[in-house]
Amino acid sequence: MSDAVDRVGELLARFQQEREGVASRQAWEALKGKYLNREHGLLPAIFAELKTVSGPEKAQLGKSLNLAKREIEEALGLLGSEVERIEAARKAASRVDVTLPARPRPRGGLHPVTAMRRKIEDVFLRLGYSIADGPELETDYYNFEALNFPADHPARDTQDTLLIAAGAGAPGHLLRTHTSPVQVRAMKRYGAPLRIVIPGRVYRKDDIDPTHSPMFHQVEGLLVDRGVTMGHLKGTLEAFVEGVFGAGTRARFSCSYFPFVEPGAQVDMSCIFCKGSGCRTCKGSGWIEILGAGMVHPNVLRAGGIDPETHSGFAFGMGIDRLVMLKYGIPDLRLLFDNDVRFLAQMAEAE
Ligand code: DAH
Repeated sequence: MSDAVDRVGELLARFQQEREGVASRQAWEALKGKYLNREHGLLPAIFAELKTVSGPEKAQLGKSLNLAKREIEEALGLLGSEVERIEAARKAASRVDVTLPARPRPRGGLHPVTAMRRKIEDVFLRLGYSIADGPELETDYYNFEALNFPADHPARDTQDTLLIAAGAGAPGHLLRTHTSPVQVRAMKRYGAPLRIVIPGRVYRKDDIDPTHSPMFHQVEGLLVDRGVTMGHLKGTLEAFVEGVFGAGTRARFSCSYFPFVEPGAQVDMSCIFCKGSGCRTCKGSGWIEILGAGMVHPNVLRAGGIDPETHSGFAFGMGIDRLVMLKYGIPDLRLLFDNDVRFLAQMAEAE
């Protein structure tokens, strides 16, 4: 067999090997050009040698060249459609479907205590109140003395807290037991007329149990003006219970005692679960205690620099956590402070 015929065989073998790696139109074009291009293709180069041989050798070479050409063309044809399929699949895979719905992103929500605080604030903002605050680390004076609890007053015993002893030149401090001290601070700072709500954290030396925590939240309210009466207080708190717990919720007043108000009242609202007919939550009474209130004591107005002869006012204070527990039927106060995201997600769903 002639040398040229051998080279045709080798060329074919090389072609078969190289076509294995072809997976794109570009590579296919390159392979085709390399073997078949009229000007520089490998196979046409051997075809050109036909001129230099003659006789049976020429016939043999011509035959093997033609066979090789047909084999390469057929293989390139098959490979061409295979490459088209690969290209189409690649294009489909890289296409972005802009109509696909976005993957949901988990979103946080408000803590139930924050949600309730804001709801209470909203109701009072609509009634023309402003929001005020004061320090959690208070002095004995604002927390007790200015609120008409003298040093030996027994009502102090109901509000034990962490005391920080007076040091050299520094007054003693305590963690405030209620938001009421901000009443006197605000009166001194802003004078009358005054209409504020004061949300905040308060502290008491209570052991933790399902209804007690050494830290909890309150909202205080204070209104001072000329000619303020108990009637204004009643109307305001009636609007408050309806605003927060829905139309038809009623408020009931009964006598109570707090040193900083006179007269003082305990306020109940009609049970939001049984609407007053009696159930487990309201222990069959139809009413739920929600806050303390009253007419600001003259001594407290005086401590705030306001003349009780010309001005009067009302105040009220409530626990936010308790209202949250009531609203959602939460049996244990601690759930509000554990920050267990499973619990908080349930609350967000209940909203
Ligand atoms: N500060 C009281 C407490 O924590 C609640 C309270 C009662 C606030 C009567 C008031 C009020 O403003 O008038 O127990």
